Amino acid sequence: MEVEGLEPDRWYWYRFMAGGEVSPMGRTRTLPTAGAQPERLRFAFASCQKYEVGYYTAYEHMAREELDLIVFLGDYIYEKTDGSDAVRPHGLPEALTLDDYRRRYAVYKTDSSLQAAHSMAPWLVTWDDHEVSNDYAGSVPENPGAADPARFLLRRAAAYRAYYEHMPLRHAARPSGPDLRLYRRFDYGQLARFNVLDTRQYRTDQPAGPRLQPDRPDLRDPAGTLLGLDQLAWLFEGLDQSPARWNVLAQQVLMAPVDRVPGPDKVVDVDKWAGYEFERRRVLRHFLEKNISNPVVLTGDKHNNWANELLIDFDDSVERPAAVEFLGTSITSGGDGVDQPDYTAALLAENPCVKYHNNERGYVRCEITKKYWRSDFRTIPYVTRRGAPLQTRASFVVESGAPRLHQA
Ligand SMILES: [Fe+2]
Repeated sequence: MEVEGLEPDRWYWYRFMAGGEVSPMGRTRTLPTAGAQPERLRFAFASCQKYEVGYYTAYEHMAREELDLIVFLGDYIYEKTDGSDAVRPHGLPEALTLDDYRRRYAVYKTDSSLQAAHSMAPWLVTWDDHEVSNDYAGSVPENPGAADPARFLLRRAAAYRAYYEHMPLRHAARPSGPDLRLYRRFDYGQLARFNVLDTRQYRTDQPAGPRLQPDRPDLRDPAGTLLGLDQLAWLFEGLDQSPARWNVLAQQVLMAPVDRVPGPDKVVDVDKWAGYEFERRRVLRHFLEKNISNPVVLTGDKHNNWANELLIDFDDSVERPAAVEFLGTSITSGGDGVDQPDYTAALLAENPCVKYHNNERGYVRCEITKKYWRSDFRTIPYVTRRGAPLQTRASFVVESGAPRLHQA
């Protein structure tokens, strides 16, 4: 159901009545008008909520924050099923059919903490791979030899349909077979423009070989695309015509081409923007050449927290950053975390663009004004038991006009 005729820039309360049942009350709000100059926006972003590995305590905390918006960056469900070591077994087989995917959403949505977060603010959602299947690329499944493409597209159609049925999307997103247009834009007055991206549906297959590969020329193949050319043109148009102070890319995968090994060799994860290096550079170059106002990239997928400055060639000595990237950790995926894992010092030393790393669960809270952007990494120490306390592990501020991270 799509509600029409609402006033801009105000809170609304709602409930559903069906079959004699009445739902609890939910709260949502409308966007300010296009010309409005709101003083601030407070939102949180999250990703990766594998049900079986733990409790959604992070959402209990999130529901107590004062937020205008919640942004979800993918992996709302996981299609595979853990073995008997699951903290919260749901007893469903791997999702393959429409019925399977529907049951997945039904189980996930029984969680009262997730319900609390949905009922306190509107959600802006996009997906990553696990809403369909691990590491798929367009019409190509993770192991292309294992399934014929037509069968994979049937599975994708089922998964997309279940997503449309269960997530807050407009009629315009109604799927057609294996296609669902998820990329779209939202303007919070003239303060922030959210370009919500889809880095799964239109991408070319990952470069051949394992996920972690030495950097090599064919990762820069101009034929490789993560967004697809239509979405890329749409993004550039939305950036070029934006009236907003802050231009947000709400998307899935790590944009900083992080080197995963110490020493002179460079090893990157080709499922991320690093596997689509030509396009990564093209987007960052566009930010600089078109003088786009304050681009900020929001990322999920990796199950840990990162704050990165994004350079085109990643030569720290000569370049100024084209944008900043905040990568938020998972709600549960990966299980209990640690603040600073063993590899952190080496990771930061090898990648000067990475200003912060943490491996606990949680979410990122953001406050935006005309003058600054502030991100707080809100973390909890465990998810395999209930009741984990919340803390802010680190905060970073970006001043409008200068894409640099300052630890607050
Ligand atoms: Fe994930």
